[in-house]
Amino acid sequence: MTTDLALATRNLESNGFLDLDVDPTLDLFEEINRLKKEKNAIILAHYYQEPDIQDIADYIGDSLGLSQQAVQAEADIIVFAGVHFMAETAKMLNPHKKVILPDLKAGCSLADSCPAPVFRKFKEQHPDHIVVSYINCTAELKTLTDICCTSTNAVQVINSIPMDQPVIFAPDINLGKYLQKKTGRENMILWNGTCMVHEIFSHEKIVKLQQRHPNAKFIAHPECEPHILEMADFIGSTTGLLKYTMNDPSSEFIVATEVGIIHQMELKSPHKTFIPAPPNNTCACNECPHMKRNTLEKLYLSMKYELPEILLSDWVIKEGRKSIDRMLEISAKAGL
Ligand code: 13P
Ligand code: SF4
Repeated sequence: MTTDLALATRNLESNGFLDLDVDPTLDLFEEINRLKKEKNAIILAHYYQEPDIQDIADYIGDSLGLSQQAVQAEADIIVFAGVHFMAETAKMLNPHKKVILPDLKAGCSLADSCPAPVFRKFKEQHPDHIVVSYINCTAELKTLTDICCTSTNAVQVINSIPMDQPVIFAPDINLGKYLQKKTGRENMILWNGTCMVHEIFSHEKIVKLQQRHPNAKFIAHPECEPHILEMADFIGSTTGLLKYTMNDPSSEFIVATEVGIIHQMELKSPHKTFIPAPPNNTCACNECPHMKRNTLEKLYLSMKYELPEILLSDWVIKEGRKSIDRMLEISAKAGL
């Protein structure tokens, strides 16, 4: 068993915690609940986290819900069970609080697809454009953004901009194309980024699955490619998809998003059947490798040592936060 000091040191060197570092005889649910009380900490978890983490979280939600919870958080420590850009957003909204991410390497292919220095040059070529960025981007990109959006409020954010105002939408090209269609915007330039999880669904395999389950509704996240979205009975954010499965009378759903959401779908509608949409490779399921870097063991260690902490410069917090505040204002006006 590694010593306390060695663990913390290794973490600071950003190698991250290992599950092996935890005493296997510990009841981690009990320990995490004890640490929550002792440290006045709150655990915010995204729907793509593993079921155990969802079960112990104080709040589970989509990107918008998690940002709204981060604004309201009264705890001293926010433990963010999600990916790096989400924890950064929580830090920008709570600059004086400690924000912890159980695994600092929990990144995002979308955020990685749009490096801020490259985007800055692109933006300079289109000086008359307003920049709308999907919240799945780095804190640095947010400093170059006028308004952020999530998949829940993206249509409302775009519609809040005058129709004749040209827009750059980054970084998700699939969400961008979906928004062009939904809002009728023609003067919107799209950055060419994608989510590695949502771009692998197989049209052919979904059609075959639908033949075997003719009564199943096919539901999809707007990060999916256009030819997949065209097949969908419903398109929505993770919260949108979850609510749809609760309210729709169908008893079977084929779900085209990260498989973690199915845990909440099954909890909320135990008598319904949820089938993950098949990817176009031999992998059995659609898991985000970044989201799944967080484990219950790392969650426990991060709370015990209050590491690794998200640290951002004052300038990034001040400039990046403006785009998140604008998004939250538009969402509030739209009743979201
Ligand atoms: P939402 O939960 O906001 O729909 O976002 C999905 C996603 O890909 C988060 O990384
Ligand atoms: Fe990023 Fe896609 Fe993973 Fe979400 S599911 S964190 S968008 S790579």
